[in-house]
Amino acid sequence: MIPVKPVIAASAQIPSIEHYRAIYRESVAEPAAFWSEQAQQLTWFHPPHEAMRADIPRGDVAWFAGGKLNAAYNCVDRHAAATPDKVAIIWAGNEPGDYRRITYAELLGEVGRLANVLRAHGVRKGDRVCIYLPMIPEVAFAMLACARIGAVHSVVFAGFSADALRERILDADCRLVITANEGLRGPKSIPLKATVDEAVEGLELVHAVLVARRTETNVSMRTGRDYWLEDQLARHRSAAPIEWMDSEDPLFVLYTSGSTGKPKGVLHTTGGYLVYAAYTHRQVFDLREGDIFFCAADAGWITGHSYIVYGPLANGATTVMFESLPTYPDAGRYWQIVDDLAVTIFYTAPTAIRAVMRAGDEPVHRSSRASLRVLGSVGEPINPEVWTWYHDVVGAGRCAVVDTWWQTETGGILISPLPGATPCKPGSATLPLPGVQPVLVDDEGAELEGNGVSGNLCLAGTWPGQARTILGDHQRFVDTYFARFPGYYFTGDGCRRDEDGYYWITGRVDDVINVAGHRLGTAEIESALVAHAAVAEAAVVGFPHDLKGTGIHAFVIIRAEYDAWPPGELAGALKEQVRRVISPIAAPDRVQIVSALPKTRSGKIMRRILRMVAAGRDDGFGDTSTLADPSVVDELLAARKDHR
Ligand code: WT7
Repeated sequence: MIPVKPVIAASAQIPSIEHYRAIYRESVAEPAAFWSEQAQQLTWFHPPHEAMRADIPRGDVAWFAGGKLNAAYNCVDRHAAATPDKVAIIWAGNEPGDYRRITYAELLGEVGRLANVLRAHGVRKGDRVCIYLPMIPEVAFAMLACARIGAVHSVVFAGFSADALRERILDADCRLVITANEGLRGPKSIPLKATVDEAVEGLELVHAVLVARRTETNVSMRTGRDYWLEDQLARHRSAAPIEWMDSEDPLFVLYTSGSTGKPKGVLHTTGGYLVYAAYTHRQVFDLREGDIFFCAADAGWITGHSYIVYGPLANGATTVMFESLPTYPDAGRYWQIVDDLAVTIFYTAPTAIRAVMRAGDEPVHRSSRASLRVLGSVGEPINPEVWTWYHDVVGAGRCAVVDTWWQTETGGILISPLPGATPCKPGSATLPLPGVQPVLVDDEGAELEGNGVSGNLCLAGTWPGQARTILGDHQRFVDTYFARFPGYYFTGDGCRRDEDGYYWITGRVDDVINVAGHRLGTAEIESALVAHAAVAEAAVVGFPHDLKGTGIHAFVIIRAEYDAWPPGELAGALKEQVRRVISPIAAPDRVQIVSALPKTRSGKIMRRILRMVAAGRDDGFGDTSTLADPSVVDELLAARKDHR
């Protein structure tokens, strides 16, 4: 692999790899001092009395204890005072050319009025609010309005089904839901309010649903529960008191999938998260005055939280929020936005790059992209060919590419090149950011020292953006992240450290799959399938997929009563089942009906074998002697291509 040298002018802050190495050494030698210095970028109502406290085996971490601050004040008020006319958010709507610019002064007004609406509905510090919105500015207003009054937001991706939404509303005990009548995504409209109605049906808990009007479509409104957001806003002034929060008070909860059980509500707190989101946004993207920062993620994921809303706004930058799809109306959409808005930094997922790359170079060449300086990638490993296309074609060979590795639980980017400093190798997330200490361990938990090793990726110590708990289940937090490899945080990813000390993420080592940058638990998809009357048993694995990175292959055993159902129809019904119970993003690409699953004598499904069958491989199955019935493998192989 030929290392690609940094191509852009050196950043003011970390101008060379030597400089990076010096800062890195300092940061891990004195983490408290290093992060306390970064914390000074925020405005504190009262300064912290202690930088950091950590009891890793118990999963107990606190940053900047005793400090008082407010995330919305830091993201809005202080910039509205200093640079009121600077554009905070540029909204790029579903249709090309539909832009709305919101200055920091306007943002302050919008957030304040919505904060007052929430207060009027009885929302108080510590209460949870569910946000189920499309990518319209209201999603940022709502998050920041919650932060302003100390309420904890739970943003649920608007692609989730009613069942999935209900489960999340119940788990977080949300009394109020903010939604829209409809969402727009490309040629489709999405009936969000109808989904909320179904989700909250019969739930006493939810006493108010606020509905933003995105389209002219009318929806049913239940008197005494449902309110048009615009009517509510019209009742309130924009000046809204601020709730000063302790650094360790919760800021938000965000649900993510694990290898077992239902989705977990990952909880982030105020001070550490905001310091980390702001610091990483500045460093990794080499943020400069006048930048137009475009992160094409959805606000429903951590990427949207940290790099559409909190990071850029805490830094007083201009952030672009995109409502539509990368291929609507065609594969040139991203680059049209880049030219229209003079975007300087662009951040998206490999799956989106692959989708537009498929249409060839022509849609890219229609734009000048002259404003671009940094290109980011996140969410899944980026194939070296895709990296190279991103760098050579999109970036015309003159932009830095940053492949950023991180997770919902890490709050912000942990491993990434720094533009202008880190020489890149396509496909590698390169080196840890200052203050971040990756450790590779073998399956027994022994640390793998030196370079040229592969193992389970863990992190030693703590960093301010680290998740603090799973809402309502701290023991699960400890069991999931701190029990397997004592003394470390375990990421669930496999990783190689090459001869130069560069990190290469090799994918999940647990039963989590990463489908088009979306994290899904195979167990969740299996329970959705088994909930269908026709299904006796199901096992789900990932397989290599050109566009999505990983596709979903479901092996199902059908109940005898359903034997006569034509396999094509059955497969269709089961895909629909998963769409309805979880989301279209979780629907299997393939359903294969089998008469048995490969199980050990103790009844455990050997997924390793299913993964190989799904990948179309018929050799190297390894030891199958522990199978209760080894002939199952022959049956699977014989019917390998027999899926719909
Ligand atoms: C998992 C976390 C981070 C925000 C979006 C996803 C995979 C993430 C990379 C990358 C290889 C990556 C990992 C990780 N992942 N970024 N640059 N290279 N893999 O957040 O839903 O919490 O998923 O995404 O497997 O564990 P998430």
